Parts: sequence; C-alpha cells; structure tokens
Amino acid sequence: MQKLLFVSDPHITIDGETIIGLDPAERLKAILEAAITAHADAEALVLLGDLTHHGAPAEYARLQSVLAGVPIPIIPMMGNHDRRQAFIELFPETPLADGFVQQVRDFGQTRLITLDSLDGPPYRDGHHAGRLCPTRLEFLETALATRGDKYAIVCVHHPPFATGITGMDSIRLAEGSAFLDLLASYGKLHLICGHIHRTMSGSTRGVPWSMFKSPCHQGLLAFDDPNSHLSSNEPGAYGLALLSGDGVVIHSEDVGLTGRQVFGGYAVADHP
Ligand SMILES: [Fe+2]
Ligand SMILES: [Fe+2]
Repeated sequence: MQKLLFVSDPHITIDGETIIGLDPAERLKAILEAAITAHADAEALVLLGDLTHHGAPAEYARLQSVLAGVPIPIIPMMGNHDRRQAFIELFPETPLADGFVQQVRDFGQTRLITLDSLDGPPYRDGHHAGRLCPTRLEFLETALATRGDKYAIVCVHHPPFATGITGMDSIRLAEGSAFLDLLASYGKLHLICGHIHRTMSGSTRGVPWSMFKSPCHQGLLAFDDPNSHLSSNEPGAYGLALLSGDGVVIHSEDVGLTGRQVFGGYAVADHP
C-alpha cells in the first residue's frame, strides 16, 4: 500500500527561542528522522500548517534548513501562525491556486487535496480562526468533482467542528458548516486537520476525520478553559496514512517516549 506521512504544527522559531522550554526545530528534526527512517518509501510528507510560530522570514529559513535532508516530496500548508507572503518568498517552488497555498496530488487511486485556511492578510484581531472563502471552497469542489472514482483525503488546518476543547473551538474554521456540507455531499473521503495538537478522531455529519499531535508542544483536554494557548511537553508524534484506494488507514506514532520497552512475548504468569 502507498503511504503518506503527516506532521502537524511544527511552530518553528528562530535559533534560541523556545516554546514551553522546547526547541521546535530540534523536535521536528527528531520526528522527521524517525518518520523517514521507518517509512522511506512514503510518497510524500504533508505539513498540516502552523509551520512557524510567528510567520517570520527567519523562521521559514530555519524550517527550510530542517527540511533540507527530507528525501521525499513535501506538501506544505498554512495555519493561523503562518504568514503566506513570507512563506511563498522562502518556498517559491510550492504550487499555488489563486494565490493560496492549496494543491491537488494523485497517488494511485487516492486524491490528496490540501487547503489554505489562513485568514489574512490583513491579519486583524481574531485572525487565529480559520477561513475558507468562496474561491477556496470552489477549488475544493472542483478537486472533488473531477476525481473520478478515486478516494479523497482532504486536509485543512482548522477543524470545521467543535471539539469540546473550549479555547481551540473559539478559533476553529469560520465556514465550518458549509465546508462540512460540501464534503458530506461528495462522500468517499477522509478529513485530516491540524491546529489542536492532539491525537483525535471522529465523524461529523458523516465525514470521518483525524488529527495528530505536534512534534513540539501538545494541547490539553481542557473543556472549561477559554485559554487557547494551554500546552504540555509530552512527546510529539507523526501521522501515517496507508492508502488502499477504497479508503485509508490512519496511524499516529509518538517519538521520544522515555522508559519505553518492546517485548517479543509475554508469559501466562504475567496475567494473574
Ligand atoms: Fe498549532
Ligand atoms: Fe493553528
């Protein structure tokens, strides 16, 4: 089966700047090394947005140097912490659609559609919520309508539904309802989001979806706190999709667990 790798929310900073004491570039390096070593046969690596922490040119330059050794195609996406123009200047080879960082790639019988939900410019107060304007939704609709009998994986940084995590739900995708209805009307697809920094899965209006942890800081299961910056330093993870042509299997693999042991078997006595 063909494979796609996913890394969500790397939040790269400049050298010396940490997030809750973690160096995002070092964490991303460790994730990439583990993912590529285990899955050198993957078709591509999808970066699910929030590539950098502040959208600064120096951060994109540092991201570029971390990604330099990746031997498979990279498909980057925008998140609310990104700045589209700064990204495009440092990654000019990235395909654009109507000026947005969106693209369609076919892998055998699977069509991958990556969307740009960054709200801005201008980046006014509240821009951390996501947007899919009519131009971007039209791109999605065309990509779905022209896929023939292919299965589709649709990626967007901002979840289009409430997760129960109050702080993050306040900055979810603004056009979530219309987006979900569009996906549901086509079916035969799986939605993958970033933004939450947690391993999650579910189904909304008949649309199945998955999310992955970040390589760096992780979100909390906080239902009653309006703070959207609550984070923990637990290990990061990468995601892996196995493409069967008539569906997808999603895995998430933590990297850097301490105290982990692998056993080849167990004795009956281990189970009293
Ligand atoms: Fe993020
Ligand atoms: Fe985000």
